[in-house]
Amino acid sequence: MTIRAVVKGIGHYLPERVVPNSEFEKMMDTSDEWITSRSGIKQRHFAAEDEFTSDLAIKAGKMALNDAGLTANDLDAIIVATSTADLTFPSAATMIQHGLGMTRGFAYDIQAVCAGFVFALANANAQIISGQAKRVMVIGAETFSRLMDWTDRGTCVLFGDGAGALILEASDGTGTKEDRGILSVDLNSDGSHRDILYVDGGVSTATTGYLRMEGKEVFRHAVEKLAATAETAMARANITSQDVDWVVPHQANIRIIKGTAKKMGISEDNVVITVHNHGNTSAASIPLALSVAKQEGKIKPGHLIVTEAIGGGLAWGAVVLRW
Ligand code: UT7
Repeated sequence: MTIRAVVKGIGHYLPERVVPNSEFEKMMDTSDEWITSRSGIKQRHFAAEDEFTSDLAIKAGKMALNDAGLTANDLDAIIVATSTADLTFPSAATMIQHGLGMTRGFAYDIQAVCAGFVFALANANAQIISGQAKRVMVIGAETFSRLMDWTDRGTCVLFGDGAGALILEASDGTGTKEDRGILSVDLNSDGSHRDILYVDGGVSTATTGYLRMEGKEVFRHAVEKLAATAETAMARANITSQDVDWVVPHQANIRIIKGTAKKMGISEDNVVITVHNHGNTSAASIPLALSVAKQEGKIKPGHLIVTEAIGGGLAWGAVVLRW
């Protein structure tokens, strides 16, 4: 018998304020045409001044609990992928645990930037298959608008805020690719690429800093590494591109999303795309896309899904799961 981490519920939250590309046209030398053609982004959501990452995550978490028909104390753990926690400590996860009314179990953050949700999913899967936890909420939540240098038109038009939450539950499987739940994982990182995507501040340097990115360089790594990690995860799950119902990629750039799908031999019709509406929400982008796709009736029980993401580090990875 094989223990599988099976999806039990999902939710998301986007801040009320929608910022279309036209707002940037008023602030700097840019255009809707440039932003759309280079990135696919048409709009993004920005958190209100008094709204923080944990606030977005709690709302997404409540929706996921509701979707699963569970209460917070039915969870054993909460794992939060974020690079934009409210405070240096305590973790966003413990603040969210309290905010959801969970008075038992454990909660902690994982930091792998835009790949954070894939790393957190892999970590939750490990908790479940090792018997440490039976039900785990995995959250990706970010307020990247707080890391933007509004004088850098090459980055500030690309990112947005939001949160998504997924609940995984231990379930008996047969050990085959027909099982529901997480079927395989592939994680990678290479710290030698630090300088192409980073924030030029942090606690130890007593600053907050701004996001800095060599867009072209990141782009060059992205398609190749994303297709490779997806293919490794698919081989581990003993599946081929023909078996895949949906690729749910990190939503950074429509050209990266399409280029990766093409390299994987997967039709664009089988790719969930939300980048036009959400921008790049870093660790929140995959659970947001999963939740929206489920809401739209695209993702259904039994569907085979491949998620893949890359971000600062560089860190990248993929997860294969059957919904
Ligand atoms: O989530 C983490 C992973 N991140 C990513 O995956 C992002 C990866 N990179 C990208 O998505 C793309 O590289 C960008 C969207 C950031 C940029 O697209 P690009 O086709 O690589 O453009 P570029 O950086 O080569 O810039 C082309 C031109 C430059 O002008 P010159 O030097 O050719 O005269 C830029 O100055 O576009 C200019 N430019 C802009 N023009 C209008 C840069 N930003 C803007 C802007 N509006 N906002």
